[in-house]
Amino acid sequence: MTVQTFVPQGAKAASENTVSQPLHTSDVSVKKLYIETQGCQMNEYDSHRMADLLGDSHGYVLTQDPNDADILLMNTCSIREKAQEKVFSELGRWRKLKEKNPELVIGVGGCVASQEGDTIQKRAPYVDMVFGPQTLHRLPQMLDQHEAQMTKPKQDKIKLVDISFPDIEKFDYLPEPRVEGYKAFVSIMEGCSKYCSFCVVPYTRGEEVSRPLDDVLAEIATLAEKGVREVNLLGQNVNGYRGETFEGGVCTFAELIRLVAEIPEIGRIRYTTSHPLEFSEELIECYRDLPQMVSHLHLPVQSGSNDVLQAMKRNHTIDVYIEKIAKLRKIRPDLHLSSDFIIGFPGETDQNFAETYQFIQDLDFDHSYSFIYSKRPGTPASELEDTTPEEVKKERLAKVQKVIKDSSIAKTDAMLGTVQRVLIENVSQKDPNLLVGTADNTRLVTFIGDAAWVGRFAEIEVTEIKTLNLVYGELLNLEPDVA
Ligand code: SAH
Ligand code: F3S
Repeated sequence: MTVQTFVPQGAKAASENTVSQPLHTSDVSVKKLYIETQGCQMNEYDSHRMADLLGDSHGYVLTQDPNDADILLMNTCSIREKAQEKVFSELGRWRKLKEKNPELVIGVGGCVASQEGDTIQKRAPYVDMVFGPQTLHRLPQMLDQHEAQMTKPKQDKIKLVDISFPDIEKFDYLPEPRVEGYKAFVSIMEGCSKYCSFCVVPYTRGEEVSRPLDDVLAEIATLAEKGVREVNLLGQNVNGYRGETFEGGVCTFAELIRLVAEIPEIGRIRYTTSHPLEFSEELIECYRDLPQMVSHLHLPVQSGSNDVLQAMKRNHTIDVYIEKIAKLRKIRPDLHLSSDFIIGFPGETDQNFAETYQFIQDLDFDHSYSFIYSKRPGTPASELEDTTPEEVKKERLAKVQKVIKDSSIAKTDAMLGTVQRVLIENVSQKDPNLLVGTADNTRLVTFIGDAAWVGRFAEIEVTEIKTLNLVYGELLNLEPDVA
């Protein structure tokens, strides 16, 4: 789990050595909002939307200091037990701030809110508002209700808890996204209906619902007008997108990608997170036809053992995964492939693990996420007997993480002498003559250039490997500015 202070998108994209313009303020008369985001990119996206929403409705401005805030929001994650535990320890710290400033408003949203509902306020009575991933658009009304009952005696106050799943209405109430920088996330579907046996997402975020095609395209066109050049289409099961078209038909994920590629300003398309079963032929063909598609794919597989995949209810074998990747690599030999792995799933034998380890080597993964299985209440896997000692799981995880790290290092090293297409995002903070951008494979690329080129794509020859995530290069070609 990642825990991070919410910062605006432009600042988030920037690394330590780049210029960024955080949206926070030191003006004491302005009402300030602090958001802590835990977990996945969906939560990051939602946090941005909460900030936009409360900025528009109540004039809140973001601060990066909880001590300085008038309202504290925690956007929580419940994917693993550790993430969930973190919520109450963090809230304990916020309680102290509220003791100093009784007017401080505390809200808890995200997947823990969705799962725990009003038990959050039982455990932490100083929490004023509880909202779920699908009701965050109702935050302004909740805040009004909270303010209206501030002066009432305790027994007359109603509990402000709304963790319902009102379909996809939230997008109708969210303001137009604010743009900072050249990259933007666009949420195109919510929830997941795959019900993998270990996972809480279908219960906390609800079943899959896709946004209508026109809404998605209109949002991307607006982002493009505001300077965005790279979109990252978001969803828990993003390639399961089935959006309603204007004529009442259904648009698939591959069809959506082709339409996004027609927006001239959008020079790069990414998406996250996809499922192997929905990784269709027509999606693979997009990689053949559309240069905007990055040669980078995050395709979670979870395990390299068929027995474990079956117990996880992933509904496919490793051969299905291997075949799809082989097809894609034929089209894109430079593909960087990353994945998610769960180690120590109940019943995972030494043999099962050995298969996963071999699979990871065979598929040659780049940076990937791997975690020890965490039992989640209410999921079918939580009923399974789990006899593998914790020590064994830790050893397996360390082995997997080492082989993946070695492979990532080798991949960065292999970039030496290659030409990378880079989205130029910033001027280096350390040296104003240097520009910083990202390659398809997410590595940062630094090279000498003109500040006026920021926001454009360039072909850069890599001349030096600095770290696992940073390479230096020389400009070969600057693509024309589309604006
Ligand atoms: N839609 C994605 C998964 C989203 S959840 C998919 O197709 O797989 C993000 C990741 O969290 C998962 O890929 C999985 O690796 C991890 N995860 C989910 N539940 C978990 C659990 N109970 N224990 C450990 N890791 C888990
Ligand atoms: Fe979870 Fe499986 Fe969906 S991992 S998000 S239930 S695809």
